[in-house]
Amino acid sequence: MNYGYFDEKAREYVITNPNTPAPWANYLGSPEYGAIVTANAGGYSFVKSGAAGRILRYTFNQFDEPGRYIYLRDEETGDFWSASWRPVGKPLDQYKTECHHGTSYTEIISEYNGIRSRALYYVPMGATHEVWRISLENLTDRKRKISVFAYAELTTESFYTQDLVNMQYTQFITKTEFHDDFLLEQINEFNYPNPDGTTGRERFFGLAGAKVASYTGRREQFLGRNRFDKPQAVLDGKCDNSLNYNANPCGALQFSAELEAGGKKTAAFLLGQKTVFEARKIMDRYADTEATVNRELQELITYWHGELENLKICTPDKNFDAMINTWNAFQCFTTFVWSRAASLVYCGERNGYGYRDTVQDIQGIMHLDPELARKQLTFMLSAQVHHGAGLPLVKYTHNAGHEDTPEQESYVKETGHPSYRADDALWLFPTVYKYIAETGNTAYLDEEIPFADKDTGTVREHLKRAINFSMTHLGPHGMPAGLHADWNDCLVLGSQGESTFVAFQLYYALNIMKEFCEDEPEYLAYLNEKAEKLLGILNEKCFEGDQFIRGFRDTGDIIGSKNDREAATWLNPQSWAVISRAATKEQADAIMNTIHEKLNTPYGLELMQPSYRYDYFEGARMRLFNPGTKENGGIFCQPQGWAILAEALLGHGNRAFQYYAESSPASFNDNADLRVIEPYVHGQFIEGHESPFAGRSHVHWLTGTASTVMVGCVEGILGLRPTPKGILISPAIPKEWDGFTMEKVFRGKKLHITVDNAAHKEGNPAKLILNGIEREPGLIGADELKAENEITIVM
Ligand code: GLC
Repeated sequence: MNYGYFDEKAREYVITNPNTPAPWANYLGSPEYGAIVTANAGGYSFVKSGAAGRILRYTFNQFDEPGRYIYLRDEETGDFWSASWRPVGKPLDQYKTECHHGTSYTEIISEYNGIRSRALYYVPMGATHEVWRISLENLTDRKRKISVFAYAELTTESFYTQDLVNMQYTQFITKTEFHDDFLLEQINEFNYPNPDGTTGRERFFGLAGAKVASYTGRREQFLGRNRFDKPQAVLDGKCDNSLNYNANPCGALQFSAELEAGGKKTAAFLLGQKTVFEARKIMDRYADTEATVNRELQELITYWHGELENLKICTPDKNFDAMINTWNAFQCFTTFVWSRAASLVYCGERNGYGYRDTVQDIQGIMHLDPELARKQLTFMLSAQVHHGAGLPLVKYTHNAGHEDTPEQESYVKETGHPSYRADDALWLFPTVYKYIAETGNTAYLDEEIPFADKDTGTVREHLKRAINFSMTHLGPHGMPAGLHADWNDCLVLGSQGESTFVAFQLYYALNIMKEFCEDEPEYLAYLNEKAEKLLGILNEKCFEGDQFIRGFRDTGDIIGSKNDREAATWLNPQSWAVISRAATKEQADAIMNTIHEKLNTPYGLELMQPSYRYDYFEGARMRLFNPGTKENGGIFCQPQGWAILAEALLGHGNRAFQYYAESSPASFNDNADLRVIEPYVHGQFIEGHESPFAGRSHVHWLTGTASTVMVGCVEGILGLRPTPKGILISPAIPKEWDGFTMEKVFRGKKLHITVDNAAHKEGNPAKLILNGIEREPGLIGADELKAENEITIVM
């Protein structure tokens, strides 16, 4: 079934049937003040941390409740509904609704009983409060009297677990007050207040643009003995102006709107963690409600659409365009900014950045905002320990040069991470390379950046130490040891087990370093020698004719040998053999055929097959998951991006696009019940063929899938491959395509690219025409580019 569509002009996903198979969410604000909102106005808000700064209550894994509810009541008949379909849930043949999830705002437009309502939710640019604007329009030809009630279920205190379970304490620390146009929640009011009497813990919920007709700060009064579909106050037509003391707080405000035939009314509810004085100031800013809201919304749209401007594609596949131009891109910015902070799956308990996750996330926005990417890259380099490894968890409070490390008890205690991962720092190589290639800023390599614990060094030095960390942590065969994990969190190989995936990453890193250290003959010789040696080991010990093994256990036994009963074929070593350029053409063709044959399903490639049931070893923690799930043979989505890229690098456009399409959220738009989560954002994994729910996807929004699939599509399928010297454009596309166009901004220059596929090829272009001059396909030097360039790629 189909629940909505992509409106690419507005860069919105429009949900036309709100009865979605799961809460379909959007992100507002930033982790400074973050809000998640679903198509039925469910979701929560927090200040800095979803776990420790929660201000709106939300029950995970339940009924998408509570939310930012706005109830509308016809004062003549007493009939009432909500501005979002739920919580009241009027019959959908009488209640028409559209939820427009946009870039950092969500608007729910509904029509019922002759009244059109528009509930717009957003966090203004750079602000730490949120706005729920409600506009009403009377579509009938008679005067109408409509009461509007807004309800915010405030937590009793910021730690959400305390709010939910420690009620002998939390119920007795909070009370509410009323201040003309807003309610204020106090928490531990007399516990060391500031000299002005405020505590900084207060939250306010206010109404601008209309007069408060009634209010309550008590959940018990608003709901009565009912649930969200029938709150007592709405049934009664008013709140009783009571305030909370020793129970559940809430913000509930009512106003009445008299609407002439065709008449309109706009007001806004405002919410935030603010003192009484701060709240007053914010309230005053919305005195001219409509103008302020329109300006703020425009600012958001201008900023976000601006961020997405650097690449615009127009291909024969409109779903692909919507993903690349808007939704995958917006998701990349979301993972870049939010990391794994908070979603409807993550509650915010991870108190920092995962090293590999963040260094990967940076890649997803490189083609759109490389300077923003650089800031975070520099930050992550400063979280590298002096011996070259990445800190497994980089605290939000990271203080470069002064951090403790997994070698110290204090770090382990605080973060729960006892040791290093084999791969963390190796992700720096492609990310640094992509930054330099996108911008041409080779001077970045000489930029001095501190290490996490002590020492400082240039970016080049940081990279050298990362290589050194791998080279000093080799296992018995001379391949990188698996340590606490490699990319696969469930593969714990220790100091004697070895990872083929990391070996390919290291091989790739050594080769990237050759480009970065051209003037250092001795170091170059070292890199050459090590790369050659590693390649020899990989070919000799890990290649089985049509696949690479996954690695070695600490016993020396092979993991992922083709005749194994379980876990015989693994995806990542094959795609990375190609991406790292370690595989020869013949090897590449063979291994990519193997994964196509053994791992592909209608919904993407499984991570390995068959799943572990009986033949596991201690370090194979994925055995904990049901077969066909997550790392245990599920269709892990992040590696789809690598498979897309690998096929595209080989010029196999058909397969590259097939892999994109099989697992792309947008492909499920008309079959959304199968996928369950949003058809506009990638999830972490899809259940594989061993699950009775094959095709169902999980862990929405905050996943590394966003960046790898983006890179796979942009560098792979679209073939936009910047290098430090210029840009190579080598699309790998489905044969049937007649061609497509791209608008790309590269180092400030505009590239108007037309790909002509009259020949119906899938890769390896035949000809390049740059500003009217025809030549062999290949690198376009940065110095050849003018301000505006017409580029034709003839396939
Ligand atoms: C999750 C983790 C990521 C890891 C992947 C595979 O997505 O966030 O760090 O690489 O699982 O285990």
